[in-house]
Amino acid sequence: MSKKLVILGAQWGDEGKGKIVDLLSEKFDISVRYQGGSNAGHTVVIEGVKYIMHLLPTGILHPHNVGIIAQGMVVDLKALQEEIEDIEAKGNKILHKLYISDRAHVVMPYHKLLDKLFEKKNGVGTTLRGIGPAYMFKFMRKGIRMADLFDKKVFENRVKENIEFVKDIAEKVFGEKFEIDWKYIDEEVIKPFQMFKDRIIDTAKYLRENNKSVIFEGAQGTLLDIDMGTYPFVTSSNSSALGLANGTGLSPKYFSDAKIYGVAKAYLTRVGGGPFPTEIFGEEAEILREKGGEYGATTGRPRRVGWLDLVALKHSVDVNALDGIILTKLDVLDGYPEIKVCVGYEYNGKVYTDFPASLEVLENCKPIYKTLPGWKESTKGITDISKLPENARRYLEFIEKYIGVPIVMLSTGPQRHEYLFLKEIV
Ligand code: IMP
Repeated sequence: MSKKLVILGAQWGDEGKGKIVDLLSEKFDISVRYQGGSNAGHTVVIEGVKYIMHLLPTGILHPHNVGIIAQGMVVDLKALQEEIEDIEAKGNKILHKLYISDRAHVVMPYHKLLDKLFEKKNGVGTTLRGIGPAYMFKFMRKGIRMADLFDKKVFENRVKENIEFVKDIAEKVFGEKFEIDWKYIDEEVIKPFQMFKDRIIDTAKYLRENNKSVIFEGAQGTLLDIDMGTYPFVTSSNSSALGLANGTGLSPKYFSDAKIYGVAKAYLTRVGGGPFPTEIFGEEAEILREKGGEYGATTGRPRRVGWLDLVALKHSVDVNALDGIILTKLDVLDGYPEIKVCVGYEYNGKVYTDFPASLEVLENCKPIYKTLPGWKESTKGITDISKLPENARRYLEFIEKYIGVPIVMLSTGPQRHEYLFLKEIV
């Protein structure tokens, strides 16, 4: 029987998807990344070896697992080359079982430059990996796809045209001189492409024709989705389940029997700008950040931290039609005498329990908290449900009741074995 499993972020990214996907992908034949690019950073520790995955699906680390970079991604070829070389240097050969969609777009050096320029004027705090501009070029119909790299003439003409366009923006809008040497195009695109030439195929066809088990790995999180997130403080792709069909090139019908789980932290973090109703500050924030080790895997930036927001989490459950939640970092809350959870927002005398589209409301609302008793015992590394402290269990039950779907799995520490299932997943 073929199995389809989707694992995606239910918050603002950094929920700990790397470890979860690593564990779950072991049983799957194929793993697929379908949106975003090297803005992602999924950390996995296997037998003491640490890997940080940016572009590759995490499942590819398993010897039998075929990895796919599908058409919805924007790919920095140089970054991909370095990622593969780094993994292979650790003794894990993967290139021969990677496929890249011929329709995926290429992140060009000038996209990264534009990302920097755009950030200078009312930026949203991007990862500066060129993601937004690469998608911008895609939708302007000026992008470069993997297939174009096989045709020197098409490629060179398109790049020349793009460079003129970027020059104009840099000089006329930002007053900055912009020179791009072909040397960069050669170094960052043409040379790395040689490594991938025979790995580029129609990946949608491959998936349609291979009746195998497939795990789809979302990057970022639902609250960063270009349509369903806290726009404009979002990434430039559909990082919720909405991105599955266009990101893979497969009909929504293909996913009708898929199970979809959202990964969420037991509290909340975000990197970059944008609304965060339950954010905490000062010493309280410092303590949580240190306990949770909340520093970005891609950029090293300290993450903003706050209490679990159930209004936002319920939004994720609804948007993605989640079958359940995988809750991570519960152990970070060990020792708190009390734990707050947000159950509504108050703005202008009105109470919101549906996640608002309005940035104004999200930025200026006051969270309504329910305070639950904490637990003194350590949950770190527990793998047995009977070891879960009574108040931790109550915390989980409170979340489940509010969001209306079960918590199916708990991650109780960074190590691979530190988890427990509360329900069967697939
Ligand atoms: P971009 O994706 O680099 O354009 O950045 C847009 C927003 O998404 C910024 O707030 C980033 O911090 C955030 N973001 C992008 N990728 C990730 C991720 O993998 N984890 C968390 N936040 C991310």
